[in-house]
Amino acid sequence: MPGFSESFGQGEYDGTKSVNREQTPMHSHVKSKSRVAQFGEVLTPPEIVNAMLDLVKQETERVDSRFLEPACGTGNFLTEILKRKLKVVEERYNKSQLEYERYAVLAVSSIYGIDILEDNVHECRENLFGIVDAAYTRLYRDKAKEAFRETVRYILARNIVHADALTLETVGENPQPIIFSEWSLVNGSFIKRRDFAFHHLVSHASLRDTPLFSDLDEEAYIPEPVKEYSLVHFLAVAHGYEE
Ligand SMILES: C[S@@+](CC[C@H](N)C(=O)[O-])C[C@H]1O[C@@H](n2cnc3c(N)ncnc32)[C@H](O)[C@@H]1O
Repeated sequence: MPGFSESFGQGEYDGTKSVNREQTPMHSHVKSKSRVAQFGEVLTPPEIVNAMLDLVKQETERVDSRFLEPACGTGNFLTEILKRKLKVVEERYNKSQLEYERYAVLAVSSIYGIDILEDNVHECRENLFGIVDAAYTRLYRDKAKEAFRETVRYILARNIVHADALTLETVGENPQPIIFSEWSLVNGSFIKRRDFAFHHLVSHASLRDTPLFSDLDEEAYIPEPVKEYSLVHFLAVAHGYEE
């Protein structure tokens, strides 16, 4: 996808499986010794997350700036990025509910994650949804729209992927290439969705023969989407695509 770089069925969490967590008391950044040994799972504490994100502060506060965490865990980085973006959205657009909704959707749609553990993927989506829902409900209370929440859930289900970031394929009986959707706001309230194969983007990045972007006159690599969709109103996204 231009900008860096899923589909339903791409490791959707069905709530039936979970990884056993050992009963031994642990620091909150470690869920179990076996998960550390098997998956290198040590979650990053907030002070380190913030110090690292401050290195790219401007980008974390740009509402449509795209972030991908290829081993996102439960979303310690992604949640903080989303909080920063939503703070900006609230400062700029809270006087108009529709504007707030549009830009909050744009903020959510710019955040991508991959994790190999299904429960982490589920937790990460829930953590991100909780941040948006809390801010939105605080601001608009009785006027809050279920359609907005459905859009946010739909996008998170696509953007936070249960997959292996090394093989670039989903996890499960029938692994499929990771597909990420690019979401762009057009004509005010419409979303343009284009799907890109992650391995195309990654293989280009490793070749580096042409830049992914160029403001100069040199040739730039423009990835081809694997699928393009018709425009859908941003509040109808959850029911707007045939999968
Ligand atoms: C060190 S933790 C970091 C989690 C998160 N980024 C954070 O900082 O809190 C590493 C994460 O990578 C995941 N992981 C390990 N191997 C992976 C792979 N091949 N593809 C995707 N995720 C993987 C683990 O499940 C774990 O959540």
